[in-house]
Amino acid sequence: MYLHEKSQATATVIPSSPAPAYREIGSETVSRPSRFNPRGWRWKTWLIVGVVTIVVIIAAVVGGVLGARANAYPNYSKVDYKLQDTYSGSSFFDNFDYFTGYDPAHGFVHYVDAAGSAAQNLTSTTSTNTAILRVDTSDTNATTGRKSVRITSKQTYSTGLFIFDIVHSPYGCATWPALWLADESNWPFHGEIDVMEAVNVADAGNQVTLHTSRGCKIGKSRKRKETGKALSYDCYNGTNSNEGCGVQGPTSSFGEAYNNAGGGLYAMELRAQGIRVWNFPRASLPSDLQSLPASAPDPSAWGTPLADFPNLECDISSHFKNQSIIANIDLCGDWAGQASVFNADAQCTGTCSDWVANEASSFESAFWEFGGFWTYNAV
Ligand SMILES: *[C@@H]1O[C@H](CO)[C@@H](O)[C@H](O)[C@H]1NC(C)=O
Ligand SMILES: *[C@@H]1O[C@H](CO)[C@@H](O)[C@H](O)[C@H]1NC(C)=O
Ligand SMILES: *[C@@H]1O[C@H](CO)[C@@H](O)[C@H](O)[C@H]1NC(C)=O
Ligand SMILES: *[C@@H]1O[C@H](CO)[C@@H](O)[C@H](O)[C@H]1NC(C)=O
Repeated sequence: MYLHEKSQATATVIPSSPAPAYREIGSETVSRPSRFNPRGWRWKTWLIVGVVTIVVIIAAVVGGVLGARANAYPNYSKVDYKLQDTYSGSSFFDNFDYFTGYDPAHGFVHYVDAAGSAAQNLTSTTSTNTAILRVDTSDTNATTGRKSVRITSKQTYSTGLFIFDIVHSPYGCATWPALWLADESNWPFHGEIDVMEAVNVADAGNQVTLHTSRGCKIGKSRKRKETGKALSYDCYNGTNSNEGCGVQGPTSSFGEAYNNAGGGLYAMELRAQGIRVWNFPRASLPSDLQSLPASAPDPSAWGTPLADFPNLECDISSHFKNQSIIANIDLCGDWAGQASVFNADAQCTGTCSDWVANEASSFESAFWEFGGFWTYNAV
């Protein structure tokens, strides 16, 4: 509006040959400054016009920059993927190391090694080629913590497409299951990608989260294309006690509701442009994922993912490297073990560790069943 008025004045009022700005009142000629003739402007007017012009220019530049910023988005162009590694069938567990140390997440858990897990049936493969990881349900007085499993793939990845066939996700009071990727010996510097994670009765939906070293944000006012609900934006592990930058899925994306619908596929793509995670319920798989392993999966045809972490304020390639695939079922610990979290589910009573020690049979539903994992790299 200001620009218009000014340009009009400049364009139409300045005469080509100098003429005094005056108007006649009766017979008397009274020289009066005209607002619309710059020649008659006083210094104050010039000052106001100058300030207004500068403000308008700054506003336009800032507006343009902010607009471009808000619209910036990586080019997730089509990548041709080919199958790299297969984790399935009776050899599923051969491709993993078993974590047996003290739980870094402070769970009330004893992670059992490969031989012990097989002997105690905490890991098993089935006649339908699925792989099961479960929590011990035999110890009715697990006063130092309950037995469980945490496996880490021997192979590591810095980019690629990962397809996870989930037949059953673990749930129940005190459980904290996750299917994730990280470099355990270089955490958080090589990043962590939580593809599936939930706690306790797991009816709040799957949470997809990144954790990194300093300098990785998934900006609040930046463009993202995702169906999930963004929960937090700074992936740096030092922010809010390592809450990470998370995105929450619908209630049916984890736990009993998810399992009752037959589970499904989760897919995660890790590339320089960003990290994206899709959740495909069993009944609505894209055509290229209906028979597994998919020969040429094409994320560019899959539609909007559940979670999108574009590389706008996070250099994905430098923050995410050398990732192993990890599956575990923690018990209590930093997340599920908080009293406010544990007791938030009415059926989870008392303390988390008492529950773990005493409620052996409640862990019957605390198992992962995987139809297989397939990793792909760019051709
Ligand atoms: C081992 O666990 C699987 C899955 O939970 C179960 O089907 C199977 O019966 C168990 N085997 C034994 C010997 O307990
Ligand atoms: C559970 O174990 C603790 C410590 O090992 C023991 O003191 C207690 O008597 C046991 N309780 C039962 C019911 O066996
Ligand atoms: C990759 O990860 C493994 C497992 O954490 C680790 O032993 C190895 O040193 C890492 N390699 C690099 C190059 O960071
Ligand atoms: C974040 O990572 C750094 C580096 O390993 C570590 O010193 C720090 O304790 C971590 N902070 C949290 C809250 O995890």
